[in-house]
Amino acid sequence: MSFIENLNWRYATKEFNDKKIDADTFEKILTAIRMTPSAFGVQPYHITVVENVELKKTLKPYAWNQDQIDTCSHLLVFSADLDTKKRVDDFLRLAEEAKLTEITNDPEYDYRKEFNKFVKEMGSEWSAKQAYIALGFALAACAELKVDSCPIEGFEPKNYKKVLNLPKNLEPKFCLAIGYRSDNDTHIKSPKIRFSEKDLFDFR
Ligand SMILES: Cc1cc2nc3c(=O)[nH]c(=O)nc-3n(C[C@H](O)[C@H](O)[C@H](O)COP(=O)(O)O)c2cc1C
Repeated sequence: MSFIENLNWRYATKEFNDKKIDADTFEKILTAIRMTPSAFGVQPYHITVVENVELKKTLKPYAWNQDQIDTCSHLLVFSADLDTKKRVDDFLRLAEEAKLTEITNDPEYDYRKEFNKFVKEMGSEWSAKQAYIALGFALAACAELKVDSCPIEGFEPKNYKKVLNLPKNLEPKFCLAIGYRSDNDTHIKSPKIRFSEKDLFDFR
């Protein structure tokens, strides 16, 4: 199937069946997320993977009781990482290890200082924007692997943070439920609603 055919195959799944995603397939989805590009490469986010059935049941009421939460195989909770100073330091350490000398040894430009200044000014919404790019890549990877998915913004970040006992620097922004569509999911029959090319684009 081509990329475009995959996009037509996928839909926001409302109910999953009880089939688990196998380890090999799941690893590919994680790789797509890990390989997603981000501004400056600092990937200012973290993903909490929830597989535990009881934990998913506890989280469900804090996401409008949506069935995706406790029927999915894996629930991925994407958080913005607000500790951008540490993220920049860790990134520069990786760059040093990879001998990316144009960044680490540039005598003209103090990357550490400039990175920190930039990411501090950008704030948590900027971190979330970077995480949304990873969401897009994950959705595309799932479609290619014939794994069903549903992005979820309809949830209570504060309660998710509490239930998952996330550290102070992590701020949940959205979730991604993945698994395999249930035969009960009538949503698959919904027509795809998309604005026309004429509406979305203009050409100059
Ligand atoms: C960022 C984001 C958040 C979303 N949140 C929810 C949600 O909380 N619950 C839900 O059922 N669908 C959610 N959706 C799914 C959209 O409603 C769906 O993708 C859109 O209507 C297009 O339909 P399709 O994905 O089936 O083509 C979300 C989608 C995105 C991209």
